[in-house]
Amino acid sequence: MALDFVAPLATWLAATPLSALIGEVAWIVPAVQSLHILAISVVVAGVFLIDLRLLGAFGESDGIAAYTRRYLPWVWWALAVLLVTGAIMIVSEPVRALRNTTFVVKMVLIVVAVTLTGATQRPLKADPDFWRDHKTRARALALASLTVWVAVIACGRWIAYTQDPGA
Ligand code: HEM
Repeated sequence: MALDFVAPLATWLAATPLSALIGEVAWIVPAVQSLHILAISVVVAGVFLIDLRLLGAFGESDGIAAYTRRYLPWVWWALAVLLVTGAIMIVSEPVRALRNTTFVVKMVLIVVAVTLTGATQRPLKADPDFWRDHKTRARALALASLTVWVAVIACGRWIAYTQDPGA
């Protein structure tokens, strides 16, 4: 996929003073990348703890609602950090990200992953024991969520190796 339709946006972003500034100041991109990776570890830790608990791997003494209350606020804040740091990386090298099929796949997968994680939290508001009473659905949701979050990470790393030849 050539992603030609985003070419004007990528070209415009690349010509902005902000993009030039980020490219000129040597520490900005490494610092932002480091923050991106730290935030990934927070998202992964939170999501894995919740999903492994949903799968029944450990922690039976605490209900799933206790896990989501404890870890999901961290996940949502870390996602906000990922959005901001990811946006800065895009502005620094817009063509590299925006005209990259793997980047687009990653964005779609993030929407799916966030939807699955949100679907874990939603029924607990009305009934904190909902997942204890729906174990099969809980396991299916946890497996889907783990798979999609791992795919998001793989795509994030893969962007560097799938530059669009037409870009
Ligand atoms: C929410 C919006 C996000 C945006 C806009 C975004 C954007 C980006 C961009 C532009 C890169 C640089 C890719 C490159 O040039 O090689 C990157 C790297 C990466 N992202 Fe994200 N990202 C976001 C969220 C996430 C999430 C939720 C995860 C996983 C939980 C993630 C995992 C990664 C990984 C593993 C890398 C490679 C880091 C490295 O090896 O240096 N990103 N992201």
